[in-house]
Order: sequence, then C-alpha cells, then structure tokens
Amino acid sequence: MKFFIDTANLAHIREAQELGILDGVTTNPSLMAKEGIKGEENILNHYKAICEIVDGDVSAEVIATDLAGMIREGEILAALHPQIIVKVPIIKDGIKAIKYFSNKGIKTNCTLVFSPGQALLAAKAGATYVSPFLGRLDDISSDGIELVRQIVEIYNFYGFATQVLAASIRSTQHIIQCARVGADVITSPLESILGLLKHPLTDLGLKKFLEDYNKLNS
Ligand code: E4P
Repeated sequence: MKFFIDTANLAHIREAQELGILDGVTTNPSLMAKEGIKGEENILNHYKAICEIVDGDVSAEVIATDLAGMIREGEILAALHPQIIVKVPIIKDGIKAIKYFSNKGIKTNCTLVFSPGQALLAAKAGATYVSPFLGRLDDISSDGIELVRQIVEIYNFYGFATQVLAASIRSTQHIIQCARVGADVITSPLESILGLLKHPLTDLGLKKFLEDYNKLNS
C-alpha cells in the first residue's frame, strides 16, 4: 500500500519524507489556500517545491470545470514536473479530460468520488488514480470504507489498472481499515500517519528496557 500525504504544507511533507515511508503527495485548492498560496505563478512554484522534496507522485488539481479549460490547465501542470499528476473532478467534462490526458500519456487523479458508479467511469476513462472521499461520507452518516471496499472489488473483478487512492482520511483507524479492504493508496494528514506509531505498551516497554539497561550500566 502506498502512503501519500494530503497537504500543501512543506514542513509536513519534509517530515513525512524524512520518515522514509512517503510515496507521494495530494493537494487540492483548499489545502493550497490553507497555506496562503495564491496567484498562478506562486501556485505553480509551490507544486515544483513539493516535487523537489518527494520522490513520488504529486497531485495538482485543475480549477477549470469545462473541457477546454481543464485541458489547458492540465497540460501546464503536467509540463511543470514529471512527478505531477493532474487532478480532475468527476464531472462530465472531467471524464472527457481524463480520457484526453490518458490518450496523451498524462497521469490523472479523478477526485471528489462518492459512488462506485463514478469510480467505474473514472476507470473506463483511464484515470491513473481514483479518489473516494471516505471521511466526507462518514461526516454525513454514510459508510466511507464500504465505498472503498466496493471500488476495490469492482476494479479487481475487471482488472482495471486504475489505483484506488483513499482520500479524506481523518484517523489512524481509517488508514487501517483502508489497508484491510485493499486500497492501493491512502492519502492522509501527517497527524494520522504519525498516529500509527503510537501504542502505550510500546512506550511502557521501552521505558522498562532502558531502566533495566541503566541499572546495570550506569
Ligand atoms: C485528497 O485528494 C482530497 O483532496 C482530500 O483528502 C480531501 O480531504 P478532506 O475531506 O479532509 O478535505
């Protein structure tokens, strides 16, 4: 399973990269705004800065919602750096754009996916990744993990190459549940990734080991 970090914060990206487990980054316009990145030139430079920190795929989202606009923006983003993945929303023109990019060998991440039907269309169009937003489904008393499970089942059944990138992750439990249903990738804030390290018995055990060592060696 690949681990992506879901942020535009360079310090968080560096910390995850230094941990040695990072496979890529996802961003979206809200995450870029949270870091105060505005204006086309600054936004493009920020994507380049992210690509220089990580080795893997970096999702950069188009703002346009019409086909011509998505193609224009996507081509600019893809030309920025070989690691850039063009992130496209699951709307009618988005599917056409994904098909266009797929034919040109440009990798895509189909975003804002909330149903198996949307995921099926993304795979048919040739998306590299599909992003089901499980946290936002849980927020409205729906079942985010069940959506991820159904998409994995459908893709495996037909052998689609599109990778299931579980997004909108809110907790360590979400990451574990994604691993159990076979998501190809999770994208998560740094906090939930680091949360996987935590266990009180690890802390207690380590404390005891060090105390016993120090009794004899100090
Ligand atoms: C990732 O691709 C998504 O943009 C992101 O995970 C959305 O997360 P949120 O629902 O916490 O905003």
